[in-house]
Amino acid sequence: MVIFYTIAELRAYLSERKNLKRSLVPTMGNLHAGHLALMKQAKANSELVVATIFVNRLQFLPHEDFDSYPRTWDDDVEALSHAGCDVLFAPNEAELYPEPQTYKVLPDAKMADILEGEFRPGFFTGVCTVVVKLFQIVQPDVAVFGKKDYQQLAVIRAMVRQFALPIDILAGETLRADDGLALSSRNRYLSADERQQATVLSQTLRAMADAAQAPSVDVKKIEADALQAMRDKGWQPDYLTIRTQQGLQAIDPLTRQPWVVLGAAKLGKTRLIDNLEF
Ligand code: PAJ
Repeated sequence: MVIFYTIAELRAYLSERKNLKRSLVPTMGNLHAGHLALMKQAKANSELVVATIFVNRLQFLPHEDFDSYPRTWDDDVEALSHAGCDVLFAPNEAELYPEPQTYKVLPDAKMADILEGEFRPGFFTGVCTVVVKLFQIVQPDVAVFGKKDYQQLAVIRAMVRQFALPIDILAGETLRADDGLALSSRNRYLSADERQQATVLSQTLRAMADAAQAPSVDVKKIEADALQAMRDKGWQPDYLTIRTQQGLQAIDPLTRQPWVVLGAAKLGKTRLIDNLEF
């Protein structure tokens, strides 16, 4: 695996390898098995895997965890070198944002101002802007994103479609711990006791899905009951909701479109998200 810190050096390297089908797996580092599974998927679908590690300030609100976001460089390099990654691009902020990034990608509000976007205003503008920038720098044929960040994947797919970017977006399944907790860099913020309780999020989504499969369904009631159940267990849920997979809009149980249960909730200071597709 080769590592580049500058756009110029990366581009020079890639320009010598134009004939290889190229994939991109963008990350913010602190890599876990979920990230590494995306690398394997990228490897299976391309000839040259480029991973990026960049903690993108643009997608954090001022009160969020940009400063404390776990940075585990040595472990990440070690893990990537065994996971099929060929090239690691790890720019610093001065390299990726040498001047304030005042030109940004503004995603469709219908998709980006709901759910995560409601509770993290500007989040998807920050994500889309850095992702488009990384696409421009790496010019991949394929890019892999995890379903763990379900709305992010949907927003990026729509962006790629609307800008006619010549990139195939592949979705990686969510990797979970044995007890069902979705792997996440933010799990390391949990105390031992919170880690035990953290399974409540995926269990609640599962219970909502079970309830939604009943013959007569009141989606609003399922959502309200789930919010209350999590509050009763000491969580602060932002949203727990059942949406269409396409467009993440409210579902009409009668139309039987493919659906997804999505949730975000804080346990202590740690904010976790998860989802289940049906
Ligand atoms: P990050 O949170 O580091 O995630 C990088 C990629 O790993 C994303 O596509 C995410 O969906 C995926 N991922 C995270 N946890 C996963 C799990 N348990 N199973 C499978 N895949 C998982 O998402 C970002 O970074 C940033 O927003 C980024 C796209 C890099 C833009 O800054």
